[in-house]
Amino acid sequence: MTNTHAARDIDTSRPHSARMYDYYLGGKDHFEVDKKAAETVAAAYPGIFVCARENRAFMHRATRVLAQEHGIRQWLDIGTGIPTEPNLHQVAQSVVPEARVVYADNDPLVLKYAERLMRSTPQGRTTYIEADVNDPDTLLSAPELGEVLDLDRPVALSLNALMHFVTDAQDPYGIVDRLLSALPSGSALALSHCTPDFDPATWQKVTDIYTGAGTPVRFRSREDVARFFDGLHLLDPGITVGHRWRPDGVPAATDAEVSLWTGVGIKP
Ligand SMILES: C[S@@+](CC[C@H](N)C(=O)[O-])C[C@H]1O[C@@H](n2cnc3c(N)ncnc32)[C@H](O)[C@@H]1O
Repeated sequence: MTNTHAARDIDTSRPHSARMYDYYLGGKDHFEVDKKAAETVAAAYPGIFVCARENRAFMHRATRVLAQEHGIRQWLDIGTGIPTEPNLHQVAQSVVPEARVVYADNDPLVLKYAERLMRSTPQGRTTYIEADVNDPDTLLSAPELGEVLDLDRPVALSLNALMHFVTDAQDPYGIVDRLLSALPSGSALALSHCTPDFDPATWQKVTDIYTGAGTPVRFRSREDVARFFDGLHLLDPGITVGHRWRPDGVPAATDAEVSLWTGVGIKP
């Protein structure tokens, strides 16, 4: 992608997490600055490509399980990322065509491609809002959200590879509590989160690269990730490394390559 594609608000002078992630996934919607930063991460942690792929695969499986086994028909997906097929609504609507999905991200580049996220089935509905997870009240009160989601019925809150961009000082647990408090009983939290648990030295390097590039990160331990699910009923198999959460086949990657804690919980 060249800078001529850049919209007014897109800062191409420094790398951005959504565009670096697009590079890890083999996408085309990133700039040279993102590619360089992503290659620095990959030099320190070659597993990053596996991690990104397994993260998407977890999102697909968690979405299907929630639709097929828990009657979920609505999703609020925050930290959506640059559209990558299949997107969450495509997975959900392949199981339940009437599924409704609200996407939210704070990267203007994601907004630029948002129409790709809105190609819904005729029975379902999707929309995109530009919003910051650090301001959950503004996000929850967005008129577009209220037009698509019925907050009196269960909603799956999908926070995939997002909360490690929220530092401790930004109150990550308070944010997730606030979001869940707006959702009724029977709602769900599906969350994935990078972890230093399997290779602390490598993940310190990754932390330094992101932080040095202007994106503070806080990769968390299993215990810290488990805290996001406090008060929820965790679905089997509990909190596991991404490729071990209800795998479709025999997991091929190593836990250290994936380095991602994942879980799905239901609000009682
Ligand atoms: C690693 S990508 C994950 C994309 C997608 N959820 C997935 O799992 O495939 C992280 C996304 O979170 C977004 N993000 C980071 N900080 C955010 C914030 N404070 N509010 C909303 N989105 C944020 C980034 O713009 C990026 O699109």
